[in-house]
Amino acid sequence: MSPVLLLIEDEVLLAQELAHHFAGLGYEVTLCATLADAAGALAPGGCDPWVVLSDMTLPDGNALDLLQARRTLADGQPGVAPSAPEDRITMGEEWIFLTGYGSVRDSVRGLRLGAFEFLEKPVDLPHLDLIVQGAVRSSRAQRRLSAIDAADDARYPVAAFAGRSAPARMTRDLLQRLARVPFSAVLLEGETGTGKGLAARILHHAGPRSGGPLVEINCAALPHELLESELFGHEAGAFSGARQLRRGLIEQADGGTLFLDEIGELAGDLQAKLLKVVEDRRVRRIGGSRETAVDVRVLAASNRDLAGRVAAGAFRSDLYHRLNTFQVTLPPLRHRLDDLQDLVPLFVAEFGALVGRRFPALPAALWPALAAHDWPGNIRELRNVIERCVLLADSGQFPLHLLPFVSSGRAEGSAGQARPAAPILTIRLDGERSLEQIEEDVIRAALAACDGNLQAAARLLRTRRETLRYRVQKYQLRDSGVNHAPR
Ligand SMILES: Nc1ncnc2c1ncn2[C@@H]1O[C@H](COP(=O)(O)OP(=O)(O)OP(=O)(O)O)[C@@H](O)[C@H]1O
Ligand SMILES: [Mg+2]
Repeated sequence: MSPVLLLIEDEVLLAQELAHHFAGLGYEVTLCATLADAAGALAPGGCDPWVVLSDMTLPDGNALDLLQARRTLADGQPGVAPSAPEDRITMGEEWIFLTGYGSVRDSVRGLRLGAFEFLEKPVDLPHLDLIVQGAVRSSRAQRRLSAIDAADDARYPVAAFAGRSAPARMTRDLLQRLARVPFSAVLLEGETGTGKGLAARILHHAGPRSGGPLVEINCAALPHELLESELFGHEAGAFSGARQLRRGLIEQADGGTLFLDEIGELAGDLQAKLLKVVEDRRVRRIGGSRETAVDVRVLAASNRDLAGRVAAGAFRSDLYHRLNTFQVTLPPLRHRLDDLQDLVPLFVAEFGALVGRRFPALPAALWPALAAHDWPGNIRELRNVIERCVLLADSGQFPLHLLPFVSSGRAEGSAGQARPAAPILTIRLDGERSLEQIEEDVIRAALAACDGNLQAAARLLRTRRETLRYRVQKYQLRDSGVNHAPR
């Protein structure tokens, strides 16, 4: 694909010479003689140049003003509320300026605006070629990165949080509203697997910071010292082993989002340092004497009762209240079973695509079986269950029998395969019976419930047939208590 070059030059002869030269080198050249024309060429649906080669002074103004306008559209204006993601542009071009007379003020301003290079006229063509080639390489790299970012943004719109239930709809509404608010921190709470990680990605990618970094760290995953230096960075020589200066993750998240997973595990001293980051937007590296300004949004997730930890004195209340200004509580799956109707087809399609298999009709018995389960692992557990079924299915039929909980009373009953209620055993712990005798009672009851069938009793006790046979012999259960000899 040939690189696109936008040439902004009002001197007709020079413009024609450059256009001819770069077209000959394989560039696709668009020529404009005024800033107004160039603004049109740069607008969405225009020529989308990789490199802009521009004269500085044009009949309708200074080209730096056009560059500045582009930057503002791309990054937002400092101090001004960020523009909504759909209004923002991605700058995929590098700017090279040709100046008639060396203006220091212009070049300083240009460098601040991120111009690639300044060249004085008359230009030396071989030198210009090298500079333009460098700009093309840089633009190509940026385009590749923004294609990755755009793919992530496309993967995490608010609608990625699936579910038709009222709690799921309310969660989506809240995420939608938060994505547009310039919050400094949001607390995400919910049991394991309820979608806190997903909500964090949505808040980043669907919000105005999607062009910035999303830096994620799990506070429970690292020992204290390592976590501190990962988060805050260190100066060279701050401690033995710290040979070079290292910017911490908080600094790396500058202009973007810092996602602190399992925040409840953060030690007390790090809680204090984090509070400073959220309140004052400043960070001090370990061993550092000065603070660095950072502009990060903090998303903090917890699957424990953080308010309870505050009450117990294990988590700082000032940090809790700072993080808790906005809270998103992800409801457990068992409180929104209606969402199964959306989540199951989603996961069936996702894993079906991996193995090239489609399940046009999901069996009716699937729904009551899924609804009967308690889902302690929430949506992650559901996703894993569906993955297993889809990957192990050997036909276009969804394999109900592979549901790990399908043998539990309620599920099977509703799936239409009647089975007697499981026996209930009462064991009096009054010191009369030993552990071995209790084991014997349990085995005896299991065999009785299974009509003496050793295989079935082993399944009921979730042990191997051989293990059970050994114990049956040990306790000599063949002739006592059991009506039928174990088969
Ligand atoms: N509403 C939803 N729609 C679609 N997928 C979801 C939804 N909620 C969660 N998931 C998916 O379920 C899985 C588990 O979610 P996630 O990792 O976000 O949970 P979590 O709350 O962060 O869990 P943990 O506390 O264990 O870290 C992920 O694959 C996620 O994409
Ligand atoms: Mg998570």
